[in-house]
Amino acid sequence: MAIAIPFLFSFVFLFLLVSRLLSSSAAVSSSYGPKTHPVIGCLIRFYKNRHRLLDWYTELLEASPTQTIVMRRLGARRTIVTANPENVEHVLKINFPNYPKGRPFTEILGDLLGCGIFSADGELWHTQRKLASHEFSTRSLCDFVVNALEFETGERLLPILSSACAHRGVVDMQELLRRFAFDTICKVSLGTDPGFLDASLPESPLADAFEVASAISAKRGAAPVFAVWKAKRALGLGSEGQLRAAVKLIHASVMEIIRTRKTEIKKGTQHNDLLSRLIVGGHKDEVIRDMVISFVMAGKDTTSAALTWFFWLLSCHPEAETEVAKEAKQAKGRLDYHTLKDMKVLEACLCECMRLYPPVLWDSKHAAYNDTLPDGTRIKKGDRVTYFPYGMGRSEKLWGKNCMEFDYRRWLSESGELVRQSPFKFPVFQAGPRVCLGKEMAFVQMKYVAASVLREFELRREESAKQRPALVPLLTAHMAGGLHMVVEKREEMESICSL
Ligand code: HEM
Repeated sequence: MAIAIPFLFSFVFLFLLVSRLLSSSAAVSSSYGPKTHPVIGCLIRFYKNRHRLLDWYTELLEASPTQTIVMRRLGARRTIVTANPENVEHVLKINFPNYPKGRPFTEILGDLLGCGIFSADGELWHTQRKLASHEFSTRSLCDFVVNALEFETGERLLPILSSACAHRGVVDMQELLRRFAFDTICKVSLGTDPGFLDASLPESPLADAFEVASAISAKRGAAPVFAVWKAKRALGLGSEGQLRAAVKLIHASVMEIIRTRKTEIKKGTQHNDLLSRLIVGGHKDEVIRDMVISFVMAGKDTTSAALTWFFWLLSCHPEAETEVAKEAKQAKGRLDYHTLKDMKVLEACLCECMRLYPPVLWDSKHAAYNDTLPDGTRIKKGDRVTYFPYGMGRSEKLWGKNCMEFDYRRWLSESGELVRQSPFKFPVFQAGPRVCLGKEMAFVQMKYVAASVLREFELRREESAKQRPALVPLLTAHMAGGLHMVVEKREEMESICSL
């Protein structure tokens, strides 16, 4: 009898476990997605496709009649991936309170971002958003942003391209654009110039620390088992030890900038950057620190990712490149907010580029309660719900038969005006209450750089870059190996053509 009771308990436990697994796999089979087995879920297929997850998800979504798939995999939380605009609107807007970023996101980026807007949820996010929207309204920042772009372009980027042109050298545009974006976002958010693009200056420790912190955070996000990095973090080992040191440096540097700036402001010096505005607004040092770090993280690699794919795509489509160059040349002299706003072909090309290569490839929320999406997919509390701009941009159902072609004209009306798309069909900047706060600044920056470069230079892919480059899904869409381009003066090209 004493042996029979534990045996009976084990049997009942096993029975309950198996019936739960079978019932959950039955629930899965009523939705769409990869073939799923009891216990392991889609683990084998996931493993087979691990080097091409973006395209695998895109294919699965296109094959699903609802444009939504359910992924169940041993060791991972149940994940719903959707490319269905109605679902995206539901998650990002209609039932927004049910879809916070959630703890899994905070855990990955929380050490670096603290309570910053990028990782906050609920009331904390709401307060931060109001504060940031007030201090970061593009109107008030506009001249300041354009001045920062003018300096970074005129004094740093264009001279590097001129020198490459004179020496028939090759430049890695991805690297230049990443350095450019870091300098610009630091000027706008912190009011400092790290000179990351200026090779004559020593490397900036702050820039290095941000590089290390984002690379290791991306590694955390991609880890198949979180317990490993969590154990390494507890012990301060390996990459987690490096991350801890990088975060310490970033926090200390920003606190030092806040202290110095406070003294300058007391002396009456005027500053327009976000950090100074927050100081004048009387906010606590830690709130200011976390807010500006979120902005640097949000702005440092996104515009450069978009521009890298933009320059590559234009080099594959010379007719589009000529049109953009023509438009940019028409805006003679100083580029300002208004001249940039008028560049419709350029904006159409940028949108078309981000449709195919969105800087943020996917973005996940975590359900606070059970829910049902508009297409009938059931959501359970704790599920990860991912909207997928990469797959949406390549969906024939959303963009028609030529969805894989680069056709910027789809963004222009017959009279040449921009055709606006629903942000839930094109959620490249997210949408709803949490839409990207830097969207307008991002367009100003991308247009400024593209127009300044293309009216002076012609960029050609180096022989090794003629293949379709591979995309590395880090925190943003990175081009594997960089974008190596040969720079030629545009006027020279024109005179050769006219001979
Ligand atoms: C092409 C460039 C950009 C793209 C595609 C982009 C895209 C996005 C996306 C998808 C999100 C939501 C991400 C998430 O919730 O995890 C986001 C949020 C955000 N972005 Fe951007 N972004 C760009 C540039 C910028 C720039 C230049 C800035 C800063 C000046 C910026 C500031 C922010 C901030 C502060 C948030 C957080 C908003 C919130 O949570 O309320 N972004 N962006």
